[in-house]
Amino acid sequence: MTTSDSDTITDGTQTPRHTNRRQPFPQGFLDTISTGWAERPELLPEPREQAPFAAARRAALSAAFPGARLVVPAGASLPRSNDTDHPYRAHSAFAHLTGWGADAVPESVLVFDPVDGGHAVTLYLRERADRTTAEFYADSEIGEFWIGPRPSLAAVAADLAVATDHLHAFAPVDGDLVVGDDDDLTRAVSELRLVKDAYEIEQMRAAVDATARGFDDIVASMDRIVATARGERAVEGVFHQRARIEGNGEGYETIAASGPHACYLHWTRNDGPVVPGDLVLVDAGVEVDSYYTADITRTLPVSGTFTPIQRRIYETVREAADAAFAAARPGVTFRSVHEAAMRVIATRVAEWGLLPVTAEEALDADAGGQHRRYMVHGTSHHLGIDVHDCAQARREMYYDGILTPGMVFTIEPGLYFQIDDLTVPEEYRGIGVRIEDDILLTEDGPVNLSAGIPRTADEVEAWLARR
Ligand code: GLY
Ligand code: MN
Ligand code: MN
Repeated sequence: MTTSDSDTITDGTQTPRHTNRRQPFPQGFLDTISTGWAERPELLPEPREQAPFAAARRAALSAAFPGARLVVPAGASLPRSNDTDHPYRAHSAFAHLTGWGADAVPESVLVFDPVDGGHAVTLYLRERADRTTAEFYADSEIGEFWIGPRPSLAAVAADLAVATDHLHAFAPVDGDLVVGDDDDLTRAVSELRLVKDAYEIEQMRAAVDATARGFDDIVASMDRIVATARGERAVEGVFHQRARIEGNGEGYETIAASGPHACYLHWTRNDGPVVPGDLVLVDAGVEVDSYYTADITRTLPVSGTFTPIQRRIYETVREAADAAFAAARPGVTFRSVHEAAMRVIATRVAEWGLLPVTAEEALDADAGGQHRRYMVHGTSHHLGIDVHDCAQARREMYYDGILTPGMVFTIEPGLYFQIDDLTVPEEYRGIGVRIEDDILLTEDGPVNLSAGIPRTADEVEAWLARR
């Protein structure tokens, strides 16, 4: 909600933020602030490239919910602390169904009103206030004096090729199905993203390509990273620069994990040094302006070459990834890709004498799992506008679902031997490896979108040698 009171601001959830920081405006300011501004010509843009794709997604959702009023909120800004917010991120379903990404206006709502033959769709948003209003100069959340120009209703309608109206014209109705509240609708908008359209695939390629350049930046900066006390932060910072220059930012918190930190699966503290002789695991992805994100991991020998034990573990993880890649074919279950990777992991750790049972016993679905101590996470997840995309899809559509051309998912096996794991010989302890690639399934099989990033142990060593 907007405010016209210069002493109160709101956070979008209609909770006033109490602050005594603001000063009243003197009369001379109030008398003059609204005048003296040049006319702004209204230039209506052509529809953006994704507009027809978003329209097709809306048509599919409309067909699935005949007669129901559907409400898809973009969501409000989330407070970080006191009167500062996190960077705004619209809800993924809202972005998918509107084509609005990094430039979405907070608190917009997409509404499907049932009409004969389907739905009439309207995007409600807070239009910019004109310069005669207090919002213009006094509202630090949305006033144009504070955050810069905002689009008019007509400009958004032209840009996204959808009808628009003022947010205050939107009224919730009893019986509305709301994304996030209604389970069936929430599931449907998640499952709608399982198979990507041509625009989404192009965006995924752009995200992966920008991420590849971010990894190149890290390799090129390795000497400086090693020389920095908190080298993991330097890794994060180097990648961040690429993510912000080329995209909207990172699609998730970068994991920069050197030495034993690599065994902590979501190490995002990133406050340790990057030490020669160790491996540094970097899991990072650029999110482009449309919100599509890559999710890529490379594990690099800091000094340029793998030790024999590091190489043995690394190449086993690669073997598992290759087995998963070979298993990924249209018509098989999503789950079978994970099973192919786990067969390699179980076989190798059994060969190394790390298991109290045989590999076959470990692979038993009910009584086994001993090898999972060294890789507790799954091998794959859907990827797209969310890093863990389609997470509200039903199990029979996701893990037990059938791989279909147009799906985009990760293949990311790993092996992690914690520093204090007494079940492994000392030489294994403190080594963590993950290799994560982003896969597009086509009629002809899987395409590794991130194949251009060095991947084998030899390729990785050559990459570091070029720096
Ligand atoms: N970066 C989170 C993941 O790989 O799933
Ligand atoms: Mn992942
Ligand atoms: Mn990842």
